[in-house]
Amino acid sequence: MINVLFVCLGNICRSPMAEALFRDLVKKEGLDGQITVDSAGTGDWHIGSPPHEGTLKVLKEYKINAEGLVGRQLAKKDFEAFDYIVGMDESNIQNIYNILGQPAHPKIIRLLDLTDKQKDVPDPYYTGDFQETYDLLSEGCQVLLEKIKEEQL
Ligand code: 4NP
Repeated sequence: MINVLFVCLGNICRSPMAEALFRDLVKKEGLDGQITVDSAGTGDWHIGSPPHEGTLKVLKEYKINAEGLVGRQLAKKDFEAFDYIVGMDESNIQNIYNILGQPAHPKIIRLLDLTDKQKDVPDPYYTGDFQETYDLLSEGCQVLLEKIKEEQL
């Protein structure tokens, strides 16, 4: 099994959207028996919370299943449990290093570094632009799945 974890700051906007999008892609490619998907936040404010209404709205618009998305905080043991730990922006990456006690490791990736786009996914908690989040995550998730297929499958 290949285990993929998306990480943002609050785990209510970007990383749960990425989790739902990536799970949808994995299912569409018939890889759901081979890849697990989860998400977490580096902050602890939204443990046990559902995603932000903006994330739920955009997922609904694109008919992507949003069931089972519950906020949790990134923990040190996630370093061993996951094969790909995918952050949304540079600040997430620094927080991931701190929480995991693990500086720069190939399994810790900033999602848009895999694309030729801008490198950070802007935080829609502050911008309000959940459509931009969807567009960037959608492209990033497709490239991530190709990378995983090349490396692991
Ligand atoms: P996210 O956005 O990291 O994409 O989930 C945020 C959600 C909540 C907060 C910050 C960012 N917050 O400060 O509560």
